[in-house]
Amino acid sequence: MSSTDREQWATRIGFILAAVGSAVGLGNIWRFPFQVGQEGGAAFLVVYLAFIILIGLPAILVEFVIGRRSERNPIDAFERLGYRAWTIAGLLGVLGGFIIMSFYSVVAGWVTRYTLASATGAYFAEPAEYFMDIAAGTDALLFHLLFMGLTAIIVGLGIQRGIEMAVKLLVPALVALMVLLIVYGFTLDGAVQGYAYYLSPEPGAIAANWTSILPAAAGQAFFTLSLGMGIMITYASYIDDERSLVGDGAWIVGLDTAIAIMAGLMIFPVLFTIGVEPGAGGAGELFIGVGGAIAGLPGSRIIGVLFFGTVLVAALSSAISLTEVTVSFLIDRFGLDRPVATGIVAGGIFLLGIPTALDLMVLELYDQVTAELFLPLTVFLLVLFVGWFYDEALDEVSKGVSADWLPGAWLWHVRTIILVVIGITLILSIQGLIE
Ligand code: PHE
Ligand code: NA
Repeated sequence: MSSTDREQWATRIGFILAAVGSAVGLGNIWRFPFQVGQEGGAAFLVVYLAFIILIGLPAILVEFVIGRRSERNPIDAFERLGYRAWTIAGLLGVLGGFIIMSFYSVVAGWVTRYTLASATGAYFAEPAEYFMDIAAGTDALLFHLLFMGLTAIIVGLGIQRGIEMAVKLLVPALVALMVLLIVYGFTLDGAVQGYAYYLSPEPGAIAANWTSILPAAAGQAFFTLSLGMGIMITYASYIDDERSLVGDGAWIVGLDTAIAIMAGLMIFPVLFTIGVEPGAGGAGELFIGVGGAIAGLPGSRIIGVLFFGTVLVAALSSAISLTEVTVSFLIDRFGLDRPVATGIVAGGIFLLGIPTALDLMVLELYDQVTAELFLPLTVFLLVLFVGWFYDEALDEVSKGVSADWLPGAWLWHVRTIILVVIGITLILSIQGLIE
């Protein structure tokens, strides 16, 4: 019964749509500019882009291979492939996803709040102060509850298909609104400074700061691509054999990256114009930056509602994917009813998120620990498995691919470079976290 449940919500045609719905979310629009600000601008962008292309794309294929071959969720997948001990990797991914969801929902709560506040113009006068007022406390908690409740209703009723369809409209709408805000940013006084900060790395900046930039870039890449949480494993379990995993992966990664880059173009000119130093805004970068831009536009209230409303749908489609992994695990493993499983998962996520709703620093800590530790560790294990232990990866990735050299090159890359780079990243992450 439960397996038919999952099949309905991710049909074959729905695959790219569902994967894009999961990938495009707060990671691109909220987390990416926040990381750029934390890590000093363009130097981060360069390392991030290199990481996405050299590690992110091949790593998404690693999850696709496991998913399509096993036709199972991330926890049952390994047993099905005949490698039971590796189930630990799937469990770690689910745990990481569960914790991510606890603060993701708080951030999505801020977005909900801003959708409403746009209608009244509440943040227009003092974008930075407004954010600080609402980011932590009872209000944040209330909106966290609201967002988690909404996610739970959709997952509990099993009506994700509706959201999948909304994603079709969402991506173009989001891109259009972002273009509008980017064009507006271009006209501002701070535009030149903003672009320089974001796009033109100072010589030597990467070399000087790589020990903090690399783990941050890796964490951001995995977070934004929904990697290391078993989501892409789950989605790929529904792809049919004729499709090229490489082609689908490239589409998802390309679109996700484009939207992140646009978020930076939208935000940094505004920050320099209103005199907020990037990095100073921390997790509030998006809200302060875009809030400032929207405030200056004619029709600001409508634009604000549309923009934050669209981001809210993007967050919702990601949150659903995240919640669904744990819910479908409980259904499959313990035979729970969907509404019961959803209630347990959503309740747990809500409780776990309470400290992050009450204290911004706790939120930033949860965020860093999951993105820079849980995700790379899970991806590391998956890469190790596919590269060195699982014999059929090459066969799986070759399906539907016409360039003969590609699968072999991919496997070589997975076995060596990716493993080493993620290994180094992990060491740096651990060092950074204990400091
Ligand atoms: N990738 C999503 C985003 O960028 C977030 C997400 C993380 C979704 C983890 C699912 C799992 O917002
Ligand atoms: Na993303």
